[in-house]
Amino acid sequence: MTRKILVLPGDGIGPEITAQASRVLAACQARGLDIEVEEAPVGGAAYDAEGSPLPESTLAKARAADAILLGAVGGPKWDKLEDIGKRPEKGLLGLRKELGLFGNLRPALLYPQLAEASSLKPELVAGLDIMIVRELTGGIYFGQPRGIEERDGQRVGYNTYVYSEAEIERIGRVAFEMAQKRGKKLCSVDKANVLEVTMLWREVMERLAPEYPDVELSHMYVDNAAMQLVRAPKQFDVVVTGNMFGDILSDAAAMLTGSIGMLPSASLNESGQGMYEPCHGSAPDIAGQNIANPLATILSVAMMLRYSLGEAELAERIEAAVGQVLDDGLRTADIASTGTETVTTEAMGDAVLAAFEAQ
Ligand code: NAI
Ligand code: MG
Repeated sequence: MTRKILVLPGDGIGPEITAQASRVLAACQARGLDIEVEEAPVGGAAYDAEGSPLPESTLAKARAADAILLGAVGGPKWDKLEDIGKRPEKGLLGLRKELGLFGNLRPALLYPQLAEASSLKPELVAGLDIMIVRELTGGIYFGQPRGIEERDGQRVGYNTYVYSEAEIERIGRVAFEMAQKRGKKLCSVDKANVLEVTMLWREVMERLAPEYPDVELSHMYVDNAAMQLVRAPKQFDVVVTGNMFGDILSDAAAMLTGSIGMLPSASLNESGQGMYEPCHGSAPDIAGQNIANPLATILSVAMMLRYSLGEAELAERIEAAVGQVLDDGLRTADIASTGTETVTTEAMGDAVLAAFEAQ
C-alpha cells in the first residue's frame, strides 16, 4: 500500500533543510519504498500566502497523511502580529492538537565524533543516548481552569495541572515499549512528594510495570532529574514525564549534546501517525544562506521510517550514512570546531546521499 508523506517546510531555514531531507526520502523511494510525497504551507509562510498559519487544505492533507515532516515555523517577521491566533506557532500547536499527537519522543544522542561540542567533559557524555518520552497534549499547558483575574484587590494568575489515568497510561505504554526496544531501563520523572497529580502519575506507572517485566522501572523527582542529567547523564536510558517537566528536561538534554542542529524528534498519536521535526527552530539569523545543518531533519526522516512506516532497516541505513559523513569530517558551521573547514547545507545533503547509496 502506498503511504502518504506530507512535507511542511515552514519558515526560516525550514525550506532549506526539508529540501535535503526530501532528497533522502526520494532515495528511499528509489530503493523501493512505496510512498507518495506532497508539500503544503504552514506557519508564517502559510499566513503570508493564505492568511492562516494552518490553512484548512494543509490540515486536511495532514489528516490524510501517514506521516508528516515539518521543518520549523516562526520568525521576527510575524512576532508582531496582533492576532495571536495567526502567529506561526499556532500552526504547530494546531497540528498537534488536531492530530492528537500526545507522545513526544526526543532523543538526546551524542555522536562520538562530536563529543567535544558538549558543554560537559567528553568522558561524561561520550556515547550518551537518552530517549525522553514527553506527554504533549495534556498537563498544565492545557489544564482548565486557567487565567488571570482580580482577587481581593490584586490580580492573580493560575493554571491547572491535571492528568487523567487514561492519559498517564497511554504515555506510559509508549515509554515502556520504547524501553523494551532499547536498554530496558525506564525512569519516570515526577514531583510526587508535592503534587497529587504526579502521585497518580507514579501510581499508574507502577501499575503498568508488571506488564513489562523485562523493563526496570525507577522514579525520580524532577529537581533531582535535572541535577542528574548534568551530573551523570549516561545513567538514563528512557525517561518518561509530563508536558512541562518534559519541555524543560528535553531542552537541557539536547544541550548536553552541544549540537541542536543534530537532534530529531517525533510526535505520535494513538493510530501510529506521526509528525517528525528537528528539535531546533527556524533559525532566522542564518536563513537563506545555505549554511544550516540539515542533519536533524534528515534524522527525523529516519525516525519517521522507524516509528510510522515500520521500515527500521532504511532508518538504520540513514543513521549510518550520517555517522559516515561525520567520520569523514564533514561539518556545517554549527558543529565545526573553530578554524576548521565547513560545508554548505546542500553539500551536507549530497554527502549523506552518497553515503546512503554506497551502503
Ligand atoms: P532556533 O533553534 O531557531 O535557533 C537557535 C540558534 O541555533 C540560532 O543561533 C540558530 O542559528 C542555531 N540553529 C538552529 N538550528 C540550526 C541548524 N539546523 N543549523 C545551524 N544552526 C542552527 O531557536 P530561536 O532562535 O529561539 O527561535 C527562532 C525562531 O524559531 C522563533 O520564531 C521561534 O519561535 C521558532 N521556533 C520554532 C520551533 C519549531 O518550529 N518547532 C521550535 C523552536 C523555535
Ligand atoms: Mg521547549
